[in-house]
Amino acid sequence: MKKKIDKRLVVVSNRLPIVIDEEEGNWRIAPGSGGLITALAPVMKKNRGLWIGWPGCGEEAPLQKLFEDFGKEQDYRLKGVPLTEEEVEKYYLGFSNETLWPLFHDLLGYCNFSLENWRTYQEVNRRFASIVAEESKDDDFIWVHDYQLTLVGGYLREEGIKQTLAFFLHIPFPSADLFSRLPWKIELLRGMMEYDLIGFQTLRDRRNFVNCAIAMLPEAEVVSRLRHYTLLRYGSRKVKVGHFPISIDFEEFNRGARTKAVEEAAWYLHENLQGRQLVLGIDRLDYTKGLPERFLAFERALEKYPEIRRKITLLQVVVPSRTLVPDYQNLKELLDQLAGRINARFAEQGWIPIHYVYRSLEPTQLLAHYRTSEIALITPLRDGMNLVAKEYCAASVDQNGVLILSEFAGAADQMGKAALLVNPYDIDGTADAIYRAFTMEPEDRRQRLSLLQTIIRRHDVHRWVNQFVSSMKGEEWRE
Ligand code: UDP
Ligand code: G6P
Repeated sequence: MKKKIDKRLVVVSNRLPIVIDEEEGNWRIAPGSGGLITALAPVMKKNRGLWIGWPGCGEEAPLQKLFEDFGKEQDYRLKGVPLTEEEVEKYYLGFSNETLWPLFHDLLGYCNFSLENWRTYQEVNRRFASIVAEESKDDDFIWVHDYQLTLVGGYLREEGIKQTLAFFLHIPFPSADLFSRLPWKIELLRGMMEYDLIGFQTLRDRRNFVNCAIAMLPEAEVVSRLRHYTLLRYGSRKVKVGHFPISIDFEEFNRGARTKAVEEAAWYLHENLQGRQLVLGIDRLDYTKGLPERFLAFERALEKYPEIRRKITLLQVVVPSRTLVPDYQNLKELLDQLAGRINARFAEQGWIPIHYVYRSLEPTQLLAHYRTSEIALITPLRDGMNLVAKEYCAASVDQNGVLILSEFAGAADQMGKAALLVNPYDIDGTADAIYRAFTMEPEDRRQRLSLLQTIIRRHDVHRWVNQFVSSMKGEEWRE
């Protein structure tokens, strides 16, 4: 059942949901792609909402005019939060992506703990809060997103904001043991506890957060633990902590994958591969995605099961991301080397085991890749959810796709029953799963995929938005 949202929604995220480009002096603005934007757009339009965030581009674009154009076309407004180059370096690349990102993904070894970056993170969060405070009205719902903006809630309370404040973390929340390494853990937790509702992707993340709050904040205690949320008391306030696994627009992917354009593009992709089974990986270039381990597992499968050689190809699409962070640059080099070495070891005339491309795909190509691949190999070391796993299943309209999924992706909670779950650190185990997927009978494939599609169709992103917003309003949802 769809819930009516009568109050205005103010969404706050690091990036605005837009793409801005310029051709021969003509600037254009369009809504970005992605499930969150698709799901929130109707809600934002209905209540003439406001989205506040960093435009993600320099001063050169005529932002004022572009935002006005956007407001007229989309029926909701944008408000930009400008960042200086130094802020981008210390708040976005630095504290967000070199401290919180690796720590929250259990990868302590990648963390850089810098006091200067932390200070800039605080300053930028404070700036976001003061812009939100200026722009918001008394009866707005304010919904802040993700790890770049954990402290906005606390600063909004300092500004005297009384409205309902909600926060959703798109990435995992670590165990108390790991979280305790953060030198500014108490300040961060205190900032988060100023929201009225805090949403996580999985029950594990929710429990981790609750454990941290009660262990590290003397004034926090559990009032009740219910199925959908835990109620905490924090001083004189109550904070609801829930888990809401994010999803995709199932119908959009499923319908999109059936179009003629996608069917043709899918056919061309496979035509070049001469009847082989295609194993697909699509990820941002990120060390959390388990890419080197994936290449090694594929190599191990070729070694251990020689009969699959020439009959299988790994197509790995790597989307450039955070290219200014040194760890991301090093990973690119490592992947180039690994793919080169494995291809040199196994390639035969007319067959290269790993096709590795470093770019993003436009929507028709993305759907064609999903539709035509017999196997998806999605093996993050840790992932908040992993939408690619859900998109792959929704777009496998020929009903023959097998999903191999890391047990450490949030998506495994919902999809573990019908996917082949693997531990990405277990190279041999992952190689066996590749072989199992390769040899899986059509009926088994069909049954598993159909179960996965039923789950994703039922728990789509529209339902996710409705459940979160209902919870923000204090209404509980029905299953
Ligand atoms: N994606 C994209 N361009 C591409 C390949 C993928 O926009 O060339 C999208 C993909 O459709 C998915 C998102 O990027 O919606 C990746 O989300 P996911 O949750 O899998 O991982 P994240 O990048 O958020 O860590
Ligand atoms: C993940 C994060 C998002 C982030 C996205 C792309 O999905 O949860 O908050 O926007 O990665 O990363 P970027 O650093 O380019 O915004």
